Parts: sequence; structure tokens; C-alpha cells
Amino acid sequence: MADPARGDAVAQAARRRTFAIISHPDAGKTTLTEKFLLYGGALSSGAGSVKAREGRRSATSDWMELEQQRGISVTSTVLQFPYRDHVVNLLDTPGHRDFSEDTYRVLTAADAAVMVLDAAKGIEPQTLKLFEVCRAQGLPLLTFLNKWDRPGRDPLALLDEIHDQIGVSPVPVTWPVGLAGDFRGVVDRRDGRFTRFTRVARGATEAPEELVDPARAADEEGAAWDDAVEELALLDGVGADFDTELFLGGEVSPTFFGSALTNFGVRLLLDALVDLAPAPSPRADEAGKPRPLDAPFSGFVFKVQANMDRSHRDRIAFLRVCSGHFERGMVVTHAQTQRPFATKYAHTVFGQERETVEEAWPGDVVGLVNATDVRVGDTLYLDEHVAFAGIPSFAPEHFSVARPRDTGRFKQFRRGIAQLDEEGVVQVLRDPDLGDQAPVLGAVGPMQFDVAVHRLEHEFGAPVELSPTSYSVARRTDAASAPALRAMRGVAVFGRADGTLLALFESPYWLDRLLADHPELKLY
Ligand code: G4P
Repeated sequence: MADPARGDAVAQAARRRTFAIISHPDAGKTTLTEKFLLYGGALSSGAGSVKAREGRRSATSDWMELEQQRGISVTSTVLQFPYRDHVVNLLDTPGHRDFSEDTYRVLTAADAAVMVLDAAKGIEPQTLKLFEVCRAQGLPLLTFLNKWDRPGRDPLALLDEIHDQIGVSPVPVTWPVGLAGDFRGVVDRRDGRFTRFTRVARGATEAPEELVDPARAADEEGAAWDDAVEELALLDGVGADFDTELFLGGEVSPTFFGSALTNFGVRLLLDALVDLAPAPSPRADEAGKPRPLDAPFSGFVFKVQANMDRSHRDRIAFLRVCSGHFERGMVVTHAQTQRPFATKYAHTVFGQERETVEEAWPGDVVGLVNATDVRVGDTLYLDEHVAFAGIPSFAPEHFSVARPRDTGRFKQFRRGIAQLDEEGVVQVLRDPDLGDQAPVLGAVGPMQFDVAVHRLEHEFGAPVELSPTSYSVARRTDAASAPALRAMRGVAVFGRADGTLLALFESPYWLDRLLADHPELKLY
């Protein structure tokens, strides 16, 4: 029988905003997340809760030991909180210092992203790739220039840097009054009004805001106001105006100035998320046909994580709902195997904390426990078949050979490698002749290796040794080209579990030469 609530999916989707925060570690992602919760009314005990939760996670899980040591976060989690009459889903991206495929996968489940930059540092090299990926994907991007309470850089220079380095044009929606370090408030360029902030100790409560009209602001703020007015005239002169279409296409980024620590500018950013960021829209299937929001339930898995809870040895698939109404307990179909999948154990997951989810709507994320056989990119649906386009994998750029340190633990090693492969922690590349003996691990960011090594030792009891290889670039190839490539010097061909063949080259120069000399070879 049709679910009578299904028709509500369009209205429920319209209320939702699903986004991720991306930043370089230390730019203030955790602090901003905390402040969003504060403004969403979901944090009654004051700030510090996100950190406290992180602390608890560290105490109970081995990976968190790694997170603590290296200052990274491995697990992705989802926070949901109400704001105004909307429901906000914040997807947490792993805070790797360098690019990781995991982060990219999380972004495929987001409708927008907030890029947080430390205003004193601007764009830091290791994070550049992440921002570039957002740009390439056309993901609508809002920018928050954080830590304006401290001495920092010139705002116009920061805007130039963003434009030059990631190719997205920052369009200031607010503009700071007072130099970085003497931050008084922001002018909203949409209506010219000045919002004056007042500090509260460590931002434990919402920052008191006072709306001041321009004449009074000029009187009271003196030179700081005059400077801001001059800069605003400059911006108006270059036509740095907000354009919704360009924002939705990922070409311009509405930009906000603030200080997450003191809560300055947090409300304006959250308001903009609700007002400007897109609501979930129909997602295209493999053939490019959009599945209407009010079609029966469907969703795709953007992340799989095993053993999050060591005492349960479970496997959780994180699914983003794309259409219809999800109700816990419903039996859905796994598109890739056509097998039924029971959703009795549906959770929201925040580290070790889980809460049962009874229902969900487009844009929401559900953690499905014990999702054996379900892989990243897979689709689950009810009634009407759909398979969404898979999540593309990147060509790895770092390659290491993995061997168990203790050959007596080969079984554990094999099991661990297979698990990491399924989760996509690293790409596992096998030589058809060597099989599982010494697979090559491929990664887009080298931090993926640290996570793999740590998990193999601590979760699977298989300490490994990684040795570097001479390869530095990979391209997909096909079975017809593989024998010729294998016969060449400086080239190797490996297989992935999904059947893809990858040719590895010692240098980009070598690859270029091969491409020029052998146009008959398929390399892409
Ligand atoms: P991350 O998740 O992006 O890694 O950054 P996080 O929020 O943990 O912030 C990194 C550091 O920057 C923290 O300081 C945090 O307090 C500080 N910070 C965040 N936002 C602001 C801001 O708007 N202004 C200023 N001045 N500092 C900010 P910490 O010393 O590492 O930690 P803590 O002892 O303050 O918790």
C-alpha cells in the first residue's frame, strides 16, 4: 500500500538544508559546529559539547587514539538540529590534513558546503585540493572567514587569494567593521545595516547583537566605520554582487566575516545557509533521470564504516535519503544485489553515541547497522526500482606495498585488507600473479595510509609494513591494452576488486610519452 505520508516528502525536503563544513584543521570547524548547535538550540549545556563528545570517543575507540595523536578525525558523523522552521543536517567531514577520498564521498551527500578559513592564514596548501574538488563538482559554497577577533590579514587580499587559488569568486555578504583583532561587527551589504557584536566569555551563550543604522554607526564607530564604508564602495564598484544562479552553480561564494569563538557572525551565516543554500532536489539515477522527491523511498550509501563500536564489531552504512519517506523497520531493496534489506537498526551516529531513527526525509542521513554487502555508492529503494549513479573514485597519487609483519597472521591481514578495501579507506591494487600476498595500496592523500596501518594493527591484529614503490601516477586501462602496458619498462598493471584495471607509471613524464607514442593504448 502506498505510504500516505509520502506526499509530504516535497514539503519536508523544502525544510531541509544538508551541508558539510570543509576546512584546514585548526581553522575552526569544530568551534563553528558547536556554535551552530548553540544557535540551533541543540546545545543547552553551553559550548564544549562537541569537544567533550570527541573526548569520549577517544577514550573508547582505538581509532580515536590515532585521531588524538595525529589531530585528525577519521569517522564521519551527522548532526541534525532545528533552526527557525528548518531542519539542518550537518555532515561532518574527516579532518585529514591532506585530501582524502572519504571527505569527497561525504560531499556527494551534501547539497552545499561551508568553507571555513582562518583569516590570518587564508588558503592553506594541503586543503586546496578539497576546495578545488567542491568547485569542480559545482557544489554551492559559502565562505566563512573565521577568527576575525584576532589580528589577521587584509580582507580584500583574502578575497583575491580565494579567487585566484580556487577559481570561485567570493562575494562578501557581510563586511567587517574594525580591523582583524579589533572586530566591532559587520555591515550587511544587502541592507546596509550594521550589526554590532558584544563579547561574551568564550562564546558560551549567543553573542548579543545590536542592529545599528548607518548614521549612528558612523557617529559611534568613527574611523573604523569610515574605512569599512570606503571598502564597501570599492566592492560595489567592482560589481561584487550576489547572484543566486552563479552561487547554485558553484561559481560565486557568498562570504561572511566572523569569529566562531566569540559567536560573532554565526547567526548571519546560519541564516544564509537556510535562506541561500538549496534544499534537497530530485537526484538523477544512472541514466540521468531524476527521481522525484515524492517517489517511494530511495537513498544512496556514501560511506561504510566497520567496527565503529569495538564491542559490537558492526558495520554501518550511511545513507542519504533522496526520495520518499523512510520509516525504521521497512524492508527495502538493495539495487545492486536485488536482495531485501531490513532497516530495523537505523541510527543517527555521532561517534559512539547512537540514537534510533524512526523516520527520515529527503536530505536526511540514516546510519544502517549491519549492512553487510552494502557498499559505498549503492542504492536502497522501496517499490520502484532506482539505482543512483555511483560515487566516482579518484586516481590514486600515492602507492605503497603492504606486507604483514608476522607471516603467521596472514589470514588477519587478508581480512583487514578486504575490509579496508570495501570501506574505501585505501584502494587495494592487486597484481594478478601475486594475488593477496603483497597488495599495493593506493591513496589520494598519504594520511589514508596512516589510517589503514593503524586499523590493520589494532582492529585486525595484523601489523603491516609499508614499503614505498616507484610509481607516482595512475590511469585506468582496459584488458586489451594491459598486456602491452605490462611489457613496458616503468609500467605496471594492477586490478581493483571492482574489476577496474589501473596502469601505474613512474612519472607523469613517462605517462605523457607513452600517450604520445602509443595512441592505440587506452588510458583514461
Ligand atoms: P578545527 O575543528 O577546524 O580543527 O578547529 P577548532 O574548532 O578545534 O579550533 C582550533 C583552535 O582555534 C581552537 O583553539 C579554537 O578555540 C580556536 N578558534 C576557533 N575559532 C576561533 C575564533 O573565531 N577566534 C579565535 N581567536 N580562536 C578560534 P585551541 O587552543 O586549539 O583549543 P581550545 O583550547 O581553545 O579548545
